[in-house]
Amino acid sequence: MSDEIKKGLLGIVVDETEVSKVMPEINSLTYRGYAAQDLCAKCKFEEVAYLILNGELPTKKQLKKFEKEERKERKLSKTLLDDIKKFPKKSHPMDAARTAVSIMGLEDKETKDNSPKANMRKVMRIFAKTPVALAAFYRARKGKKIISPKKNLSFSENFFHMCFGKVPNKEIVKAFDVSLILYAEHSFNVSTFTARTITSSLSDIHGAITGAIASLKGPLHGGANEEVMHMMNKIKKPENALKWINKALDNKDVIMGFGHRVYKSGDSRVPTMREYFGKVAKIKKDKKFEKIYDIVEKVMIDRKNIHPNVDYPTGPTYHLMGFDTDFFTPIFVISRITGWSAHIIEQHAANKLIRPLASYRGNKHRKVLQLNQR
Ligand code: CMC
Repeated sequence: MSDEIKKGLLGIVVDETEVSKVMPEINSLTYRGYAAQDLCAKCKFEEVAYLILNGELPTKKQLKKFEKEERKERKLSKTLLDDIKKFPKKSHPMDAARTAVSIMGLEDKETKDNSPKANMRKVMRIFAKTPVALAAFYRARKGKKIISPKKNLSFSENFFHMCFGKVPNKEIVKAFDVSLILYAEHSFNVSTFTARTITSSLSDIHGAITGAIASLKGPLHGGANEEVMHMMNKIKKPENALKWINKALDNKDVIMGFGHRVYKSGDSRVPTMREYFGKVAKIKKDKKFEKIYDIVEKVMIDRKNIHPNVDYPTGPTYHLMGFDTDFFTPIFVISRITGWSAHIIEQHAANKLIRPLASYRGNKHRKVLQLNQR
């Protein structure tokens, strides 16, 4: 067996999937064969969630049933709500999300049942309850009263309602929906691979999603959307952007929201999200971040030929919508639960324990000395 190391599994194909693919012939990310931007134009998030989980776009009747189930499952147990109120106020909301899903696993009567039907029921519960838990934490940590979910609101509308006590205009909700569609799935990325690895030992779905959330938190993955906002806040105003980015590149800094393991000449999700970022900026009458965005992007392409990834436009879009910066990656979570779940179900259906090898570089064999001889 060859000892050649592919650090970061670079270029290694480890399994098959039917969930998504970046199709070079159309230069686009596709879910179950549909281009993500086509889905953004024609569907709401719930339709795409259904597609990712079930393999086909829903009919009107199927969508109605799916939405009804999701809305029914939104309610949190009193224990979970009380726990959320006790979470340290300064803890990162990604840690709150991870803990909330883990608590849901303690409470779920079907945690141990990995049959396809039980898994789908658990997916619906995690999918419906996680945004509600996060919105509850959003308010609890500010000392504000937690708002109950409303069954007459869509997935996105309900999240706004529970965080802010009101639903913004349709264009803002659509921009949020679009961001969720673009974040929903991306094949064997770090968090999905984490979820599949946990699943491969025949562990349960709550555990796999808890692990995936921990993996998404890192700044090289989902955490980048928060870092983009920190960068924009450091730059402060468009007049500073050129100098700031040139200096950062001279210092060989990694610029968050740029680069991608799969896309080397541009993330296919960016043009759609950039368009909606522009729409939100117009509605909010705040063009500052758009100007900073364009300057930094141009320098990155001119000097490094490195293009933005989807976290670059989502960061300032969520900021303009009014979300706290540390809630950007949790928003990614509430969407990516769909992709993770589809992969967990796929892994269970054709499981093989994921167990790679390592090339050993440690000490040669040696004898243990008793404590008094060391
Ligand atoms: N800023 C500056 N230089 C960069 C960047 C960047 N954002 N991304 C890549 N490079 C350079 C890197 O320094 C390296 O240069 P050299 O060959 O001279 O050492 C070269 O480009 C190749 O980069 P790499 O890090 O080896 O590529 P990778 O495929 O291992 O990493 C990445 C991909 C996403 C981790 C990396 O581009 C990065 O750190 N980006 C910033 C974090 C980020 O935006 N993450 C979000 C990823 S996409 C959505 C998501 O998953 O949430």
